[in-house]
Amino acid sequence: MEKVILTGDRPTGKLHIGHYVGSLRRRVELQNSGEYDQIFVMIADAQALTDNFDNPEKVRQNIIEVALDYLSAGLDPEKTNIFIQSAVPELTELTFYYMNLVTVQRLQRNPTVKTELEMRKFEGGTPTGFFCYPISQAADITLFKATTVPVGEDQKPMLEQTNEIVRRFNNIYGKKANGEGVLIEPKILLPDNAACLRLPGTDGKAKMSKSLGNCIYLSDTPKELKKKVNSMFTDPLHLNIEDPGHLEGTYTDNDGNEVHYQNTVFVYLDAFATDDDFAQFLPDYKNLDEMKAHYQKGGLGDGTCKKFLLNVLNARLEPIRERRHYWEQRIPEVYEILKKGTEVARSRGQKTLEEVKAAMQINYFDDKELIAEQAKRFKEGK
Ligand code: TRP
Repeated sequence: MEKVILTGDRPTGKLHIGHYVGSLRRRVELQNSGEYDQIFVMIADAQALTDNFDNPEKVRQNIIEVALDYLSAGLDPEKTNIFIQSAVPELTELTFYYMNLVTVQRLQRNPTVKTELEMRKFEGGTPTGFFCYPISQAADITLFKATTVPVGEDQKPMLEQTNEIVRRFNNIYGKKANGEGVLIEPKILLPDNAACLRLPGTDGKAKMSKSLGNCIYLSDTPKELKKKVNSMFTDPLHLNIEDPGHLEGTYTDNDGNEVHYQNTVFVYLDAFATDDDFAQFLPDYKNLDEMKAHYQKGGLGDGTCKKFLLNVLNARLEPIRERRHYWEQRIPEVYEILKKGTEVARSRGQKTLEEVKAAMQINYFDDKELIAEQAKRFKEGK
């Protein structure tokens, strides 16, 4: 069976290092593994519009930001088709057919939709387009017959819904002559490192988010990065270097609530630091386990930990910054890359849609047998 990757991001802002460890870094590795027959990475502008329909300029300006982030992170247009969702109308058509296979009640139970609805508090009700975006996401994945979808943990419910739709479609509309379903059930590929599943913000809050101002962007300058790392949340009880430090724990906030915290510097080190980084920047320790042990025992200051983290992050981000600078000087070329990627995506999408329509028996003009049979039947007056 062909091995195909599809994944993507909403163009609502620049990508941050949470995106990087959660999915982007993996995509580049998968791309370079040479194990995949086709790789599609989609800029999900139509999905971005489902909750930003009143702010088209934001989506428009962030297409290029996301494209630049992709290219600078190491996606190679020779190996990966980067494309724009709204420029593949086959996606919209497929979504419309899938809508028959999903109940309103099922959408209401989708945990990601639930959380987002609580967060966004749409005034005057939920836009139908937003409510249906899990269906459109199922179309995104299946139109390309993707077998592998590398994404962050928050996308798990979307993949579950996609697989339900695939099973329903194949059951109702049957299988191809060789017994294979027309549609393919994709597998989700999550980061294998727990710290990468959901990288907290620099303030220790559960998630990096633009509105909380706790993100480190791939495009941050060394100066911005330094400021952010130095202000990062650590162990609030670790006041003197000699004191034992904690990697996680609880503290009581001003309102008297018990709050669980993780020491953000160490979560980031979990996500980024390699043994080579220790050899290069902090040879007192062989690896992160040794460093953590010293921190917990006491005698290792937050300043040293932050300095090490800054070195590690700079080592990862420097090649990304260089590539960004290169592509920023070539914006028209970036649009050409998107256009070419979109053409490849469309031509694959058109093929699947033809199969889908044949399976659904709505391919009237292509069905010579149907026309011949009806011609005969009507002529004979039956
Ligand atoms: N929902 C994803 C996000 O919020 C973006 C996305 C749209 C996507 N369609 C997809 C991801 C298909 C993977 C597969 O970033």
